[in-house]
Amino acid sequence: WRMDARQMKIKAAEAALDYVEDGMRLGIGTGSTAEEFVRLLAEKVAAGFRIQGVPTSERTARLCLELGVPLKSLDELPELDLTVDGADEVDRRLRLIKGGGGALLREKIVAAASARMVVIADESKVVDVLGAFKLPIEVNPFGQIATLIAIEKAASRLGLAGDITLRTSGDGPFMTDGGHLILDASFGRIPDAEALAADLNAIPGVVEHGLFIGMASLAIIAGPEGARVLMA
Ligand code: A5P
Repeated sequence: WRMDARQMKIKAAEAALDYVEDGMRLGIGTGSTAEEFVRLLAEKVAAGFRIQGVPTSERTARLCLELGVPLKSLDELPELDLTVDGADEVDRRLRLIKGGGGALLREKIVAAASARMVVIADESKVVDVLGAFKLPIEVNPFGQIATLIAIEKAASRLGLAGDITLRTSGDGPFMTDGGHLILDASFGRIPDAEALAADLNAIPGVVEHGLFIGMASLAIIAGPEGARVLMA
């Protein structure tokens, strides 16, 4: 008997509940793993556990409302105890790529407002070098081509090359909760994630990017044999 992908996500989400204490102000992540966490959290809330949640996306907010997880906005609750969120890639130093679900900006703002960030993921997300997953870069619609060119130049100065494509949804571009666009950059390997993060942050049209560096304090990684913990 081996766990399938969904069961691994549930395992990781279950283990994350151990870090949630009664009365906590909690950032709630986005994606299929975070949704398993919301389902388990909702059961605890129904059993009388008190938390106040701040969602990292409209999608997560809808699920929380549906399941009765109490929500506040980040402006009502600007300092959080803990954020639990998924990731698209995790390296051994707990640097992350996020944004596969398009929620990276709110995810990063919420994680930055939290005393701790716990990542929940299955084994398939753990990598030696970040970059096999396309790096999501959130950009302002204004001047998107100029921003794309600036990103290509910055990447090439770091020896990075690869297609950078506009994320689409149906017939049009994918729009984030903040009304921005996402460029997905397939660099393949990002040996110096810190340098790339700094250079992307310096481009005016870049709203945020999916490199989360120095933010996660702990990752719960679920594999077929159960969950293990990675510490930064
Ligand atoms: C959302 O924008 C992402 O950062 C998610 O955290 C990420 O895509 C992980 O999603 P899954 O848990 O569905 O893999």
